[in-house]
Amino acid sequence: MARTPIIAGNWKMNNTIAEGTQLVKDLAPLVKDAKVDVVVCPTSTALAAITAETKGTNIHVGAQNVHWEDHGAFTGEISTKMLTEIGVDYCVLGHSERRDYFGETNEGVNKRAHAAFAAGITPIICCGEPLEIRERGSYLDYVAFQVLEALAGFKPEEVAKLVIAYEPIWAIGTGKTATFDQAEEVCGHIRETIKKSYGAEAAEAVRIQYGGSVKPATIKDLMQQPNVDGALVGGASLKAKDFSEIVNF
Ligand code: PGA
Repeated sequence: MARTPIIAGNWKMNNTIAEGTQLVKDLAPLVKDAKVDVVVCPTSTALAAITAETKGTNIHVGAQNVHWEDHGAFTGEISTKMLTEIGVDYCVLGHSERRDYFGETNEGVNKRAHAAFAAGITPIICCGEPLEIRERGSYLDYVAFQVLEALAGFKPEEVAKLVIAYEPIWAIGTGKTATFDQAEEVCGHIRETIKKSYGAEAAEAVRIQYGGSVKPATIKDLMQQPNVDGALVGGASLKAKDFSEIVNF
C-alpha cells in the first residue's frame, strides 16, 4: 500500500487573521493539483477564519496543540470539541518548542494524541533530538523512546493512521537541514521501532515526515528517501510561493 505524502506548514506564532487569510488565498490556486495531502497550521485565533477560507479547496487545517480534557479550568488551552466545531482535522503535538519552552512531556503528548484521535483529528506527533544527543550518538534510542511514549495505548490499526514528524532540534529554524541520509536513517528507525511494537502493517501505513529548515531546494531529494513521507515546514510555509513549490516538489 503506497502512502500518500503529507506536507504541513507550521505557522507557529505568525500571521494574523488578515495575513493568514491572504496567504491561503494566494496558496489555494498554486496547490490545487497537489499529489500530496496539504495542511496549514495557523495560530488558534486564526483557525476559524482559515478553515472557512479553505473550504472547498484541497487545503486542510491543523491546530498547533490541543488539550486532552473536553472542557474545564485549563487556562490557555483548547479542547478537541472546539477544534472539530470549526472543521480542524489535524493537530501538531509535542513540537520541540512546546517541549522546550512550555514544559510539555511525552506523557502529555500521549494524552493529547489520544484525545485528538478520539475526536477524529489526526495527530502530527513531533519527535527529535537536541544537538548534544546527536553529538553523543544516542539519537536513535532517544527518538525511539519519544515515539513509543507518545504512542502508548494506541492499537496497531490506530497507529497506522497517525503522522509522526521527525524534527532534529538542531535543524529547526537554523538553516541547517539534516542531510538526506540523516533524515532517512532516523525516519527508517522510527518505522522499524513501530514495526517491533505494533507490527508490519502499522509500520507500513504510518506516515513519517521530516522537519527542520525544509526549503523548495531541498524537498525533492528529501522526498526520494524511502521512509520520508512528507515534511513539516516552518519558515518556508509563510510564503505562498515557497510553500507551493515544496508541496508541488
Ligand atoms: P523550520 O521549522 O522549517 O523553520 O526549520 C520547522 C518546524 O519547527 O516545524
